[in-house]
Amino acid sequence: MNEKLNKLKKERNAIILAHVYQSPEIHDIADFVGDSLELSRKAAQTDADVIVFCGVHFMAETASILSPDKKVLLPDLNAGCPMAYMITAKQLKEWKSQYKNPVVVAYVNTSAAVKAESDICCTSSNAINAVKNIAAGKNAKDMDILFIPDRNLGNYVQTASGIKMNIWTGFCPTHHNFILPEYVLEAKKYHPNAEILAHPECRSEVVSLADRVMSTGVMCRYVAKSSAKDFIIGTETGILYKLRKDNPGKNFYPVTTLAQCPNMKKITLAKVVDALINMKNTISVPDDVRQKAYLSIHKMLQIAAQG
Ligand code: 13P
Ligand code: SF4
Repeated sequence: MNEKLNKLKKERNAIILAHVYQSPEIHDIADFVGDSLELSRKAAQTDADVIVFCGVHFMAETASILSPDKKVLLPDLNAGCPMAYMITAKQLKEWKSQYKNPVVVAYVNTSAAVKAESDICCTSSNAINAVKNIAAGKNAKDMDILFIPDRNLGNYVQTASGIKMNIWTGFCPTHHNFILPEYVLEAKKYHPNAEILAHPECRSEVVSLADRVMSTGVMCRYVAKSSAKDFIIGTETGILYKLRKDNPGKNFYPVTTLAQCPNMKKITLAKVVDALINMKNTISVPDDVRQKAYLSIHKMLQIAAQG
């Protein structure tokens, strides 16, 4: 299968980008595995003609917005992020209309239509810097910052930055419903010397038990330089494959094996090959939406990641 895939990739001049939550079989064939921000940057920089995006719909859409002349394929069109569907462009317009001077900070886990209605995007690795950047701008004292759609990331950013925001009520079912404080305490009982790392999509009770809160990409870099040998990982379990592969001398324990994103796991090796053979499941964004969404993503790419 891998030989066939490499031949196809060459013929199509294709690159495979994969989010860290993908299954091991996808990590092993990807040209690059990373977090949302890193994948956006790769999509913007690549000179490949085809990007096979192993992740969820909004990520492939972001790649297409950044590289409109490239063909972006999502191997399973049903791989969507439920959090991204928790706010629509219509709802956002209505919410904005309730404020005099709204400035919208949109987590990239949103549709292109929602990004088009936003002022700046962020990922979990640069959200604090994005909000600080907005708050440092002129007329900042008269503006109302609207943070969408994740309430947990929003609350985390608000506490960490000290900047008051209005926060939408969306959430990630995988992080919010399955990574629970009692599981963290249980894991700590079994691994008392482990450092607890949590993704900011986790609920605040989990965040307050964590030693450090960080995006998946920052987590991957952090464990390599930490002096700790054991880590309790509070995010989707797909990341464990990369953490273990890159850090053979260290131990990684999930808060719970229940933390799996069913949509990320819809992408399989067979679907990647099928998409490339048949050049199917193209993601594209209407030009008027793309141009507006591009501005908010471009602003995000100018903001540095934390950590
Ligand atoms: P990262 O920005 O850490 O890649 O997270 C994206 C995501 O969907 C987390 O659930
Ligand atoms: Fe969306 Fe959560 Fe899956 Fe990330 S883990 S893609 S936020 S449902």
